[in-house]
Amino acid sequence: MKSDYSFTLLATDGMARRGRIDTWRGDVQTPAFMPVGTVGTVKGMYPEQVRDTGADILLGNTYHLMLRPGAERVAALGGLHDFMDWQRPILTDSGGFQVMSLTKLRKLTEKGVTFRSHIDGSAHELTPERSIEIQTLLDSDIIMQLDECIPLPSEHKEMERAMELSLRWAQRSKDAFGNQPHRSLHGIVQGGDNAELRGRSAAGLKSIGFNGYSIGGLAVGEPQEVMFRVLSEITPELPTDKPRYLMGVGKPDDILGGIERGVDMFDCVHPTRAGRHGHAYTRFGVINLKNARHKDDPRPLDEESPNPNCRRFSRAYLHHLIRTEEMLGAMILSQINLSYYQQLCIGARTAIEAGTLADYAAQTRATWAAGDI
Ligand code: GUN
Repeated sequence: MKSDYSFTLLATDGMARRGRIDTWRGDVQTPAFMPVGTVGTVKGMYPEQVRDTGADILLGNTYHLMLRPGAERVAALGGLHDFMDWQRPILTDSGGFQVMSLTKLRKLTEKGVTFRSHIDGSAHELTPERSIEIQTLLDSDIIMQLDECIPLPSEHKEMERAMELSLRWAQRSKDAFGNQPHRSLHGIVQGGDNAELRGRSAAGLKSIGFNGYSIGGLAVGEPQEVMFRVLSEITPELPTDKPRYLMGVGKPDDILGGIERGVDMFDCVHPTRAGRHGHAYTRFGVINLKNARHKDDPRPLDEESPNPNCRRFSRAYLHHLIRTEEMLGAMILSQINLSYYQQLCIGARTAIEAGTLADYAAQTRATWAAGDI
C-alpha cells in the first residue's frame, strides 16, 4: 500500500525550520541535502555508500534520463529506483534548467521548449505535460514543474516574462499531474532578484496550490548577498506547512545561510564535482589536496570526524591518488564531501530543535575561518 505524501514541521528557530517529509519510500529529515544522481548514479559511489553518508533522498534529472537511456525504457525496467537500486525517495528536476544550460540550438515558446541533444544532436521537445509524464515514468517521488530559469543580472522585463511564463506552466503542470497522493508536485518561484516579481510568483503558485515550493533562478551569477536577500524576502511569503527547496545550491556556507533563512531542502553537484577535482570539505573548510604541501603529510584529514575515511587515509596518500588521477581518489573525496554536507545538515537539525542555531552557525563559521590546521 502506497501511503500518502506528507510534510510535518517539527520545530522552528528564528526563520529556520526542522521538519520531516514522509513518503511511501521512506522519510526525509529536513533541513536535507540531496546528492545529485544526474544520470542514475551519484558519480563514483554505490547507493549504499550514499545512504551511509546520511542521505535520505537523491536528485535525478529529466533532461539527462529522457535522452539516455530514455524514460520509457526506465519505466519498462521497473522505474528509476529499481534501475539504480536506490529504494528510498527520489526528487527529479523538470528539465528546463538543463536544456537552458546544456544545449545550444533551442527554441522556447508558450507551448514548451524544443532543443537538440548535447549528446548526438537529435531533436526533442519538452512541454510542461511531457515533463510531468517523464517524471512519472521514472517513478519520481517529488516532481518539479517545468519552468524557465534565466541568468542574473537580467532586464526587469525579461525577469517578468520568464516568471509569468513559469506561472502559466505551473498551472499546466498541476493539471497534468492530476491526483497522485503518493507523489508530491512542486511549483517553482522565479522572478530574478526583484522582490515584487518574486512575491507575485509566490502568490500565483500558492493560489494554484502545490505540495512543496521550490526557489529557482538563484545561484545563477549573482553575489551571495543578493541570493540571501531574495531568500529572506521570499520564504515568509511561502506556506509554513509545505517544504521549501532551494534549487542547485550550493557550498556549505550557502547551505547554512539558506537554512537560517527558512529553506528545507538543497541539492548541488558541488560536493561530488569538487571531490573529483581533489577538494575535500571538512569542519576546517575546504582543503585542496592537489597542493604539493600535502605530499609528505602523514596526518588524516580530521582525526575527530565521525567519517572513517577522514581518519583512515593520510593527506599524503590522498594527494598521491589525486595527482595520479586514480579513481579511488575521486571516490574517497566524493564520499568525504557528501558525508560532510550531511553532517552539516544533521548539526543544523539538532541545533534548530534545541533553539541554538545561531550558536551552531557561529561556531561552524569560526571553524571554517580558522582553516586547516
Ligand atoms: N536548478 C537550479 N536552478 C533551477 C531553476 O531555476 N529551475 C529548475 N527547474 N532547476 C534548477
